[in-house]
Amino acid sequence: MKLLWIYFSVLVGCLGLAVLGSRSFTTTPCWCWSGDQHVVLRAKPHTGGNEYVAYGSYGSEVDWNSPDRTLPLGYEQAQGKRIFYQQCVWCHADTTPAGPSNRSNVTPAPPLMNDGAVLNGESDTSLHQIIALGGSAVGKSAMMPPYGASLTQDEIDDLILYLRVIAVPEYHKASSKSNGIWRTKPS
Ligand code: HEC
Repeated sequence: MKLLWIYFSVLVGCLGLAVLGSRSFTTTPCWCWSGDQHVVLRAKPHTGGNEYVAYGSYGSEVDWNSPDRTLPLGYEQAQGKRIFYQQCVWCHADTTPAGPSNRSNVTPAPPLMNDGAVLNGESDTSLHQIIALGGSAVGKSAMMPPYGASLTQDEIDDLILYLRVIAVPEYHKASSKSNGIWRTKPS
């Protein structure tokens, strides 16, 4: 008789636990873990980069003005993007991968690197000059540093190809007279 009581109380206890468990199953998949540990069943946020979204391209850049638009980058443009985010983003963009940019502290305000209204009118040669020699060498502000000693000619050309592809309004090569810089062979 005593054994039967023990048997029944264990049975009721187990059933009670099961009911308790299944009740909270409806809210979280497991009653023994707190909600934020149930990462498995939740859709993961898509925080990954958008590199390689365009097949056959070396990278991509989100249109700064319309984030829904993704621009595929060729080899040189992708190199230019990399150098831009290392050297120029601090002054020529409003946000940087590390947080707010320095742009608002610089006088005169550096043009945004996608500002086609400013940059489309400049030839590749004059852009190359200001990047290589700095602002003061071309009659502009010395706040634009010279990069001719720290970047190679090809790297400067890659930067120009990159800023051309992100330009808003879009950049169209003016004419056959324009001095396009297209590197054919990686050196
Ligand atoms: C310390 C801040 C700073 C950094 C870093 C910087 N720039 Fe500049 N840049 C300026 C300023 C300021 C101007 C505007 C000069 C003027 O209009 O007098 C400028 C102007 C320019 C222009 C000329 C725009 C025009 O009006 O024609 C180009 C092109 C340019 N920068 C490219 C670059 C590139 C490429 C890099 C990275 C390799 C870079 N800059 C890094 C501050 C900077």
